[in-house]
Amino acid sequence: MVRELADGEMRVVADAPIPLAICRVKDEWFAFENNCTHEDFPLTEGGVDGTEVECALHGARFCLRTGEVRAFPASCPIRVFPVHVEGDVIQVELP
Ligand code: FES
Repeated sequence: MVRELADGEMRVVADAPIPLAICRVKDEWFAFENNCTHEDFPLTEGGVDGTEVECALHGARFCLRTGEVRAFPASCPIRVFPVHVEGDVIQVELP
């Protein structure tokens, strides 16, 4: 899995109990709820710019590290989760 994702790519995590996605930015890994808080739209339809993900629908941006809103029209943060990488395996800590 680790080698399958290039820098700046996102991927939906199938079979997760919530809409979940992971993203790689250089050697950092991020996991986040794959749902824009503006109008419930999958963030994986958008793009990654540095450590921000941008919603494709209306352009809201969120920090991948903290989930905080970086650009409107969203006003609520997304949930982000700790990620552990061991070898080729990515583990996400869900609450
Ligand atoms: S649904 Fe994401 S910005 Fe509107």
